[in-house]
Amino acid sequence: MAAGVQQEVAALVHAHVRRMGQIDPAAAASPTLADPQVRIGDRDLLAACAIRDLVFTEDSYEAMWGALHRHVLTVALAGPEADGAFEQALTRAVDLVVRRRVASSDRSISLTWPSMDPAGAGPLVRHGFAPLTVLGTVDLTSAEAGSCPVAPPERISQAGDEHVDQVLLLAEHLHQHESRLGALPHRPGTRTRLRNEMAAAIESSTQSVLIAMNGADVVGFVQAQPPQGAWIEKQVAANHAGYVSRLLVEPGARRRGVARALVDAAHGLLREQGAEVALVHYSAHNHPAASMWVRFGYRPVLTTWTRRLSPSQA
Ligand SMILES: CC(C)(COP(=O)(O)OP(=O)(O)OC[C@H]1O[C@@H](n2cnc3c(N)ncnc32)[C@H](O)[C@@H]1OP(=O)(O)O)[C@@H](O)C(=O)NCCC(=O)NCCS
Repeated sequence: MAAGVQQEVAALVHAHVRRMGQIDPAAAASPTLADPQVRIGDRDLLAACAIRDLVFTEDSYEAMWGALHRHVLTVALAGPEADGAFEQALTRAVDLVVRRRVASSDRSISLTWPSMDPAGAGPLVRHGFAPLTVLGTVDLTSAEAGSCPVAPPERISQAGDEHVDQVLLLAEHLHQHESRLGALPHRPGTRTRLRNEMAAAIESSTQSVLIAMNGADVVGFVQAQPPQGAWIEKQVAANHAGYVSRLLVEPGARRRGVARALVDAAHGLLREQGAEVALVHYSAHNHPAASMWVRFGYRPVLTTWTRRLSPSQA
């Protein structure tokens, strides 16, 4: 990239972070825009978009979480004409992606955008994107501390090796639930990968898997990753962010406060590990889960919008 363009992009990223800081400080992390393919603005750069292609094989770990061929957009936006500049950048980026000759028919375009910024929604809806996933956050320093007692017969404890099989069944149930909602694909290797992942999380000295037991039965679980280890941490402008990554309560044990007790225990562990905020991902159209996270004090920070490309566009 020419030095002049590099400077313009750096100034745009700076203005973007400042604009986001006014809208939502938690969402004001710097976007990575090394060499954007789309640049909007005559005199000053008002918007820029980088398109990154990620390609995965069907048996890879990443394939569990989305399309095999992903076009990931990163946009920076500044200036008073923000809505118009966003629309122009998106139109150009989508056009570039759709016109590419790609053999795969399992393709998506996605963009993660601050949930609180109204400039994003209209253009994304007009271009056929759906808000699929939300990253929510809660401030653990001000959220109520202490553990919420779960009503008998359930009790909360740390999962051990002897619980791997039962936790795997719940993790599979959760994955199927998300697939049913259209948020995750179904892949042939999912069961094996989930088993390995849950067994490793239970054995781990840093991650935690907490379970709700009713007698010898595991009726719910939650997984928590401490700050510094949580991969998600750099997506938000927060220090010491822990990650609550999976939560499911068996249908027969629901609406009795089991999820509340599990999340409360996970928050307690994250606090002990130095977390100041906790993050969670949930599907935007998983309405019981969305109300639950709000009830637990979370609010949306980033929304991932996705458009599937139909085979005729592939
Ligand atoms: C979402 C889920 C974990 C809730 O578990 P639960 O033990 O029933 O939840 P709780 O009894 O602790 O309720 C906590 C809050 O969640 C909300 N909630 C839970 N289920 C709800 C429902 N069916 N409709 C509306 N709100 C609901 C309520 O706000 C509730 O608080 P309140 O009872 O004080 O009003 C459970 O329904 C589940 O496992 N669903 C499928 C998997 C899933 O969606 N997991 C979340 C992934 S991010």
